[in-house]
Amino acid sequence: MFLEKEEEKILDGEYGEVMEKCMKILVKLGDIYGADKLIDIKSVHSPGASYRVSGDAGLNFVEEVSKKAKFKCFTTLNTGGMDLENWKEHNIPEYFAEKQLRLTRAYEKMGAISCHTCTPYFIGNLPLENEDIAWGESSAICFANSVIGARTNREGGPSALAAGVIGKVPDYGYHRDENRKGDFLFKINTEVKTVREFGALGYYVGKIVGRKVPVFENLKNTTLDNLKALSAALASSGAVSLFLMKKEEDLERIEIDEEDLKEVYEKFGDKGKPDIVCIGCPHASIFEIKEIASILKGKKLDTECYILTSKPIKSLSDRMKYTEIIEKAGGKIVCDTCPILTAKESMNYDLLYTNSAKLAHYAPGVCDIDVSLLELKDCLVVK
Ligand code: F3S
Repeated sequence: MFLEKEEEKILDGEYGEVMEKCMKILVKLGDIYGADKLIDIKSVHSPGASYRVSGDAGLNFVEEVSKKAKFKCFTTLNTGGMDLENWKEHNIPEYFAEKQLRLTRAYEKMGAISCHTCTPYFIGNLPLENEDIAWGESSAICFANSVIGARTNREGGPSALAAGVIGKVPDYGYHRDENRKGDFLFKINTEVKTVREFGALGYYVGKIVGRKVPVFENLKNTTLDNLKALSAALASSGAVSLFLMKKEEDLERIEIDEEDLKEVYEKFGDKGKPDIVCIGCPHASIFEIKEIASILKGKKLDTECYILTSKPIKSLSDRMKYTEIIEKAGGKIVCDTCPILTAKESMNYDLLYTNSAKLAHYAPGVCDIDVSLLELKDCLVVK
């Protein structure tokens, strides 16, 4: 891979050991994937920001880097292991909280925005079309590539950290035009209009395409929340990082009918009374919280209910009095975390209701919880 003079100097250790280590990660990746140069990036969304994922090895690495380096570009943090302010309410063990706080502080020291979320585009990390970025978190990557039109590969914790410190990534994969083309065309013959339905579509298509690029024809009701659900589901049953919504003629064509989505609903069917409801995977937008508040106004929930979001969106919800309505109904808005990335000890439940196909996919394996994938209003069981 060709390196500019300054990049060579970093690799030769002239700017210290930490910079050298970061550059080595990027060069190694570039060599593996056949990149011929490094390119500048506009932002980073760093995965591995939950202690549950980073473990001690990741925590030590981030702390080591934070002593000597700062992020060169705008950097946000993916969902963490607990609500940074209210973790004591959620059965988080002390040892876990201590390590999560150390991890968050180390990222902050490097200049990352102190907010853990999987929807960084709702809190100001919003690149422009065709901008190169280095993002982790599969749902956010798929959303960034497909909805925003920015360009990122699937970065892991170390590569996103290295990219942020150096301000560059190797030029391969979805940074390049030739890889941003469709592989299969999906013609949608059934009405898809809710978060649950978009999630079911993504779940079904993700299983078919794996890591390839689906193109959707006749996809309507493309709201931000629906597209975030689609992105998340495509990236969980499959490993999709890019989907397209423009017609490409010479692709294998697959029809999607109502029956296909029914398969997904049956897999995650209604299994009786839940002991936990989780909405906001990926983290809820203010529009979703508004909808939840309008359903719950004046009612009482019959079960524990967590609305997952970021701190800035919760602040908006507080100001709009949605939080008050939700809390009066017995629900809680939880920031910075989610069932999949929080401490295992805090998810001691048997049956979870959600409208998120991504959460339905992961919760049984990661949290050992049975799941029903339902429409939002059916998740919010009231007395
Ligand atoms: Fe976000 Fe956790 Fe879902 S990171 S996409 S809420 S599994």
